[in-house]
Amino acid sequence: MQLFIDSAIPEEVQKMVDLGIIDGVTTNPTLAAKAGIPYKEAVTKILKMVPGDVSLEVLSTDKDGMLNEARQLAAMGKNVVVKLPTTEEGLKALKILKGEEVRINMTLVFSANQALLVAKLGAYFVSPFVGRLDDIGHTGTEVIEEIRQIYNNYAFETKILFASVRSPLHVKDAALMGCDIATCPYEVLEKLVKHPLTDVGLSKFLDDFAKSGQESLVNYAPTSQNPKSKP
Ligand code: E4P
Repeated sequence: MQLFIDSAIPEEVQKMVDLGIIDGVTTNPTLAAKAGIPYKEAVTKILKMVPGDVSLEVLSTDKDGMLNEARQLAAMGKNVVVKLPTTEEGLKALKILKGEEVRINMTLVFSANQALLVAKLGAYFVSPFVGRLDDIGHTGTEVIEEIRQIYNNYAFETKILFASVRSPLHVKDAALMGCDIATCPYEVLEKLVKHPLTDVGLSKFLDDFAKSGQESLVNYAPTSQNPKSKP
């Protein structure tokens, strides 16, 4: 399964690129507004940082406006995937852009039927917003299960991108349910590696070795993260 970062903040993206765990990026107008730097500047930086897919969203709500924006966005880089809203106008634009080989991420998907339609029209990604369904008292992952089943039934090639991730549990759900991608906020990605028992176990290894007074097998230098190591 691929992991994307859901962010418009270049520093966050760079940190996760350095960690080596992300395959792509998704952005949206809300994230852009939060970024604190001009959106255009942020996206230009992000496109250079990440060789994988970067989803950029149109702001128009009519087909012709979407087509105009999508073509310009697609020209910004080979790794651009254009996000269109899953509306009637969005479907019309998807059909035309598919014919032009522009890769499309159909966003704001909340039902299996929406996902069925976008797959029939050849969307590259479908983005069900799981967290936002949870927010209104639905079980968002039920939609994921349904979409997976439908896509398997008919061998649709559209990739399922689990969006609106709220916690590490959602990432595990995405993997267990056979999603192709989960796009996660920076804070969730940070939490994926953490486990208190890992920290306790590591500290005990170092304590026990230091107390034993034995020589280490190889030379190693103390670091701030590893203050108990001996030269
Ligand atoms: C994905 O492409 C969306 O930008 C994102 O996952 C939405 O998440 P939110 O519901 O936390 O805003």
